[in-house]
Amino acid sequence: MVSPSLLSANFGNLQEDLEMINRSDADWLHIDIMDGVFVPNISFGPPVLQYVAKLCDKPLDVHLMVVNPMNYLDAVKALGARVMNIHYEAETHLHRAIMKIKESGMMAGVTLNPSTPVCMLKDIIADLDLVLLMSVNPGFGGQKFIHHTVEKVRELRELIEKSGSKALIEVDGGVNVETGKLLADAGSDVLVAGNAVFKAESPEGVITALRAL
Ligand code: DX5
Ligand code: ZN
Repeated sequence: MVSPSLLSANFGNLQEDLEMINRSDADWLHIDIMDGVFVPNISFGPPVLQYVAKLCDKPLDVHLMVVNPMNYLDAVKALGARVMNIHYEAETHLHRAIMKIKESGMMAGVTLNPSTPVCMLKDIIADLDLVLLMSVNPGFGGQKFIHHTVEKVRELRELIEKSGSKALIEVDGGVNVETGKLLADAGSDVLVAGNAVFKAESPEGVITALRAL
């Protein structure tokens, strides 16, 4: 699957980019919420996202880069999001948080920073709907892909298979057709792409190409 990241869209004309997403083969739309504390950047919050949710026909895949991510549960639910991703590094009581996200009817995802090993998920993997592996340090679009992520995808695939978990593997950061191929071959299910899609001459073409990997 492909989840284009709204962070790289043209904020001066979001409607045009959302119409492109609606026409495209994209499976989800990836939404990066940042608070300027967990990551050194601020993106957009619920007031803007309300309009995005109205204009976008694709399910929303929300990635919270904030401290105390569970404070946003109701706001993310109100958007009608399909997936709520919270960072492993931002939530002390991960099991309780995951149960609450699932109770609220969304898919529960846990995100790992590049420096957090996959083995930290051993005792929670069976409860997860999705794991989002960061292949850049979160906060900005357009960064260079960290190649070690390919190895992490293989490790995570093994952990999922061993535990009987149904979790999807999603990867975010520096993904293009080239790095996406390595990730797909290693066993990832969902590719997030910001710059590779929105800065391309044919964004819809790139989405189709990523999906075919
Ligand atoms: C980075 C965000 C990503 C970002 C990806 O913190 O989580 O979703 O938009 O952008 P690219 O694909 O340009 O690296
Ligand atoms: Zn993201």
